[in-house]
Amino acid sequence: MMKNLTLSLLAAVCFVSSLSAKQVLAFAGSVREDSCNEKLVRLAAKIDNDIELISLKDYPAPIYDGDLEAQSGLPVAIEALQKKILDSDVVVISTPEYNGAVPPLLKNTIDWLSRGKIGQKVFKDRKFILLSASPGRGGGSRAVANLRSILEALNANVSLKTFSLPNAYSAFNADGNLKEPSQHQKLVEALR
Ligand SMILES: Cc1cc2nc3c(=O)[nH]c(=O)nc-3n(C[C@H](O)[C@H](O)[C@H](O)COP(=O)(O)O)c2cc1C
Repeated sequence: MMKNLTLSLLAAVCFVSSLSAKQVLAFAGSVREDSCNEKLVRLAAKIDNDIELISLKDYPAPIYDGDLEAQSGLPVAIEALQKKILDSDVVVISTPEYNGAVPPLLKNTIDWLSRGKIGQKVFKDRKFILLSASPGRGGGSRAVANLRSILEALNANVSLKTFSLPNAYSAFNADGNLKEPSQHQKLVEALR
């Protein structure tokens, strides 16, 4: 009886400490000043204090070109981002939708990330949570589907729960929260 209780307590402590040890990284697929996807990941970081927010502005890379890679290898910023992702258990990405797909900035970053010695490892063994925001009615959900297929091609573990924010230009309060409580709840669910 006592032994069972001790084992249960131990399991509970391990569970809690494994949750608190989770490293969560989040970024938007846009570096635009007033980006609604940036606003969405900022809100995600407000909901979950453990989320580390980064910007692709700090990880610039030229358009992928095999000759460039053969000459100079991976851009230094991409190698730094590879390491950052490798140190994470969960990666949250909020993608804009450009003509029904992910924008070139995000696709180019993923293409570079998938290269080099650790390129394949970057996408394995961690969970990806996908969000999107757009001024349109679909909220960028086609870009989320496109991003899922790109990441799954890289053997990533992509969460089935996603969140797409429609009418995103008018969806946020001045304090960065969502005006609509039901939308806020859906975001919380996707991050859970
Ligand atoms: C080239 C281009 C294509 C776009 N295509 C779509 C689209 O297919 N669906 C959509 O909802 N919005 C589309 N938009 C509007 C974007 O959702 C909008 O610019 C949004 O603000 C981009 O995200 P951001 O605010 O995070 O930069 C497009 C914008 C551009 C520049």
